[in-house]
Amino acid sequence: MVCVLGRGLCRNDNFPGQAILSKISVDSCLLIFHAVDEMRTKAASEPYPRPVHSCATALRGPMKAAVFDRYGPPDVMHVAELPKPVPTANQLLIRVRGAEVTKGDCELRSMDFPVRWFLPLIRLVWGWRKPRRRVLGGYFSGTVAAVGAEVTRLSVGDDVFGTCGTAMGAHAEFMVVSADETVVHKPVGLSFEEAAAVPLGAMNSLHFLRLGKLRAGERLLINGAGGSIGSFAVQLAKSLDAHVTVVDAPHKEALLLGLGADRFVDYTAVDLGSHEARYDMVFDMVAASDFAVMRRLLVPDGRYLTGNPTLKRMWQCLTLSRFSSQQGYFAFARETRQELLDLAAMADAGQLRVVLDRVLPLAQAAAAHARVGSEARVGLVVLVPVSAADSVATGH
Ligand SMILES: NC(=O)c1ccc[n+]([C@@H]2O[C@H](COP(=O)([O-])OP(=O)(O)OC[C@H]3O[C@@H](n4cnc5c(N)ncnc54)[C@H](OP(=O)(O)O)[C@@H]3O)[C@@H](O)[C@H]2O)c1
Repeated sequence: MVCVLGRGLCRNDNFPGQAILSKISVDSCLLIFHAVDEMRTKAASEPYPRPVHSCATALRGPMKAAVFDRYGPPDVMHVAELPKPVPTANQLLIRVRGAEVTKGDCELRSMDFPVRWFLPLIRLVWGWRKPRRRVLGGYFSGTVAAVGAEVTRLSVGDDVFGTCGTAMGAHAEFMVVSADETVVHKPVGLSFEEAAAVPLGAMNSLHFLRLGKLRAGERLLINGAGGSIGSFAVQLAKSLDAHVTVVDAPHKEALLLGLGADRFVDYTAVDLGSHEARYDMVFDMVAASDFAVMRRLLVPDGRYLTGNPTLKRMWQCLTLSRFSSQQGYFAFARETRQELLDLAAMADAGQLRVVLDRVLPLAQAAAAHARVGSEARVGLVVLVPVSAADSVATGH
């Protein structure tokens, strides 16, 4: 519905809200449309086995992967043996060295999303009653083990990190990914485990902060700052010389102040409704936040950004932009190669810290999911294949 709305309005040059819609990133709607299209195509064929390509035949054989066969709680995750995927002409075979377990993985595992309007679309793609695809994981680091005949951008032996988009499959010893995806050389200053935890949080926060055009000296409040996206948003905002206030649970205070936040607000003790400070920008990661409260935190020409585009919240962003001097933004981050290259450069320059809560072997996928779903974690959770388990001890 939103795609149709977005497309229709895009086509109508005379539509009075055209300018506002561009402000709230109407191309997000098209992005969803294309993503769903892409997911449908990819889900139509099981990822294992894929068509054989000669350069990778030597790498054929079984591998271990964290799989799930029904939607449900963390303990539906278990390890199974699958055939190693074989790259097609434009794909890379990656020996996975680390893969983040994200909120998105947990949402797919349980088929429970805060943004409920795309649940039917996701079920159509992933399987209505049970998952058609068994391996989760969209963000990884690893080493290129084989390349398809048409791949020139990366070579066997390259250490890389990135995302496989909606294709998933990183929670395994090996995965295939299109060479067109956002995969670049791993920063040398980061271990494989750290690098695996960068792409989701850092690319999403970079995308949103650029969308909202955060400037030096501005006051930013990040609601839900202690998670994957927020912990990078703090660092990126500080690198832009913004003044950063963070909101999260009290056990994340040290983490967030350590990442550079100027002020910490404990949401379990402070009612944001009576918070007196005002901000140029509010970046909101909390699906259940109160929009009226978020809006009240803004200066008269402030910007509100949400990572959770529920129908209601998108409508609130639209009306905020249309009927006030404040602006509302929602988006699905594009996760471009250039963004990841910019972040890799920051990491190499020592400007990006990665805080890991747990590095767990694939065999503990259920525990990793439980940890991400729990309120206890402080930092990011990464799975490492058993074959790379030594790297847990060394960090490299
Ligand atoms: N738009 C996009 O392109 C996009 C992409 C990826 C993700 N997302 C969405 O963006 C959101 C954030 O993603 P994420 O990966 O950063 O999630 P996350 O790692 O779970 O981080 C969310 C943080 O918010 C904290 N929190 C929970 N309730 C809160 C409250 N009432 N007030 C303040 N903080 C609270 C959480 O603490 P506890 O862990 O203690 O609960 C956690 O630290 C998710 O809902 C995700 O689905 C959007």
